[in-house]
Order: sequence, then C-alpha cells, then structure tokens
Amino acid sequence: MKNFVLRGNLCTSRTKDSLSWIPHGYVVCEDGRSAGMFAELPERFRQWPLFDWGDCLILPGLVDLHIHAPQYAFRGTGMDLELLEWLNERAFPEEARYQDLDYAGKAYGIFAENMKFSATARACIFATRHREATELLMDLMEATGLRTMVGKVNMDRNCPENLREGTEESLEETRRWLSDIEGKYDHTEPVLTPRFIPACSDAVMRGLGDIRRETGLAVQSHLSENQDEAAWVRELCPWAGCYGEAYDGFGMFGGSCAPGGPAGKGGPTVMAHCVWPSGEERRLIKERGVFVAHCPQSNTNLCSGIAPVREYLEEGISVGLGTDVAAGCGESIFRAMADAIQVSKLRWKLAEGAGRP
Ligand code: GUN
Ligand code: FE
Repeated sequence: MKNFVLRGNLCTSRTKDSLSWIPHGYVVCEDGRSAGMFAELPERFRQWPLFDWGDCLILPGLVDLHIHAPQYAFRGTGMDLELLEWLNERAFPEEARYQDLDYAGKAYGIFAENMKFSATARACIFATRHREATELLMDLMEATGLRTMVGKVNMDRNCPENLREGTEESLEETRRWLSDIEGKYDHTEPVLTPRFIPACSDAVMRGLGDIRRETGLAVQSHLSENQDEAAWVRELCPWAGCYGEAYDGFGMFGGSCAPGGPAGKGGPTVMAHCVWPSGEERRLIKERGVFVAHCPQSNTNLCSGIAPVREYLEEGISVGLGTDVAAGCGESIFRAMADAIQVSKLRWKLAEGAGRP
C-alpha cells in the first residue's frame, strides 16, 4: 500500500536542536513517501485509508549508522576484553562461520527478522568477508523493506587464516559481488567496507580506491576507536599524519571520490567510533564531510573511551548513532540514544575541557 494516512501523536526533529510535536496529528504517505504532517487532515487525503493509532507515538524511522550482522548471534556476551583481543577471541571466530551458507542463512535470518521489528528503518551494515553470505544477507534485508547499505568486508592481513583473504582475491571477490547484485535491489545498496587499517594492506586499499573512483560507492569503516589500535596504525602507515589520512591517502575518506572520479558521484563515508581523534584528524573529518557513527555502548563495553561528540557537533561535523552489535549488546537504537546522553555526562565530569553534556 503506497497511499495511506496514520493518526497519532507525531514527534519529529528536523534539526539537531529542535523537536516538533503534533498531538493527535496526521502523517500522510503518498506514493510510498511522506507527504507531510498535519494537525488537520487536508481535504484531498480524506478518502484514503486511515490507520488511527490513538495515543501512540509516531516517529520517523530511525537510523543505525553502524552494526555488524554476523556478530548478532553472540550479542550480550564476551564483554571482558578490549578491542584487539576481543576481535581475535570473540568476533573473528564467529565471523569465520559465515563460510557455511546454512549457518549464514539461519543466523542472518534471525538478524533480519529482528531488525524488521526494531525501531531502525535504515542501517549501515557490515557483513563478513564472504561474498556468498553477504549476498544472502542482502536478499534478506531487501525482503524486510528496510533501507540499508550492506558491505562485504575486506581483510587481507592481521587476522586468522580462516578469515584472511589474498590481496587479489579480496579485490576480485569485491568486484564479483558488485557485479552479482547489480540492479537486483530497490532499497539495499552495496557499500565498500575495508574492515579497518590494521586488517587491510595498502594494496587492498589502493584497489578499493580504484573501485570507488569507478563506481562512486559509499564507504564504511572504523576510525580511532582504541588507543592501541591507533598506535598500531601509526606503525603500519608511518606516511599518514593521522589515522584518517591512512584512508584518505587511497581516496577512501569522504569527499567526492577524489581525482579522476565520476563528477558528482561519490557516496558518503561513515567512520565508526572516532573516540581518539587528533586535531589534524578532526580537521580532516570536517573537511572531507565524513560522517561519524557514535557507538556509545560499544565504546563502554570494550573500554574504548568516550567520543568527543559535543566538540564534533560544535565544529559542524555530522554525527549519527550506531549500535555496533556485538560490541554493543543489542539493536535498540533507543538504547543507543540513552547511552549517548549518559556517556556525555561522564565525559563532561571526567575529561578535562569537555563541553557540556
Ligand atoms: N574494528 C575492526 N573490526 C571491528 C569490529 O568488528 N567491531 C568493532 N567495534 N571495532 C572493529
Ligand atoms: Fe564496528
């Protein structure tokens, strides 16, 4: 059904500083899109099917900017480690199972079904490095009706052998994945997904940069999540002035897709965490228009820290929320909102010079 009217207590937010509210108002769906919110229903919509939700709250669909579908099965467990140990001991062994399509179908089926009945309407999703399982996840997400970006992960170093791709293999599988799914979906898009710099060689990053210039695809990855991780990136990429530059050097950090790219094309870049940015990194994030996925629960569970979100907002950097399952223990984006407020209070008390919560 593409034309209908909902009635209830409407609440929405058009800017980061405002909420608007229409008690017992009407929201109209015309040809599958919102035609607006009204205190009185305009005459021309009065014959359309009306669903009256009484005193219920009606909100716009919410966005989860960062979630790992293959980690859903172990959410809520394994919270005793910091990032690099957690990846080796918890995340990688589970992700290796997605080589098996029966397992992937079952686990991704549960993930997709639960996402469908969550408050999230749009999401940026990491799959695993496995092309076939990623395609299966995309089929399942398409069937939910949610609008999502899904990424086949690239990882060709510093991970267990059963997850590690060869460098050429990683790029070939990415190209094959993009060709397999071309034109297949209405509301499921591919997004280039280098896992993070420690797991991606310069050669893979260079190849992904080429694919990005050719296709204009969006990018998602992790940035400055944990201090040991950031120190490791300084060792791996001594040429980069900051962690963000290790992506930027390959045209994988915001902007339109760097020199030679198709004009006007260039999907967004979403970087998860951004807990420990240097001043230089903050300037680059802003300059390139990179979107920050703030993942407060994950940053708490893995003892990563508290991201300087107040500063990002005041500098005009775009910030959204991510649940980051399974470092975050569930897909509730409402819970992420509460977590964001709570950690910002701690940051205000504990971090020198932090802005108000
Ligand atoms: N950095 C690289 N991979 C991951 C992951 O799966 N989860 C989190 N939280 N950080 C990462
Ligand atoms: Fe993550």
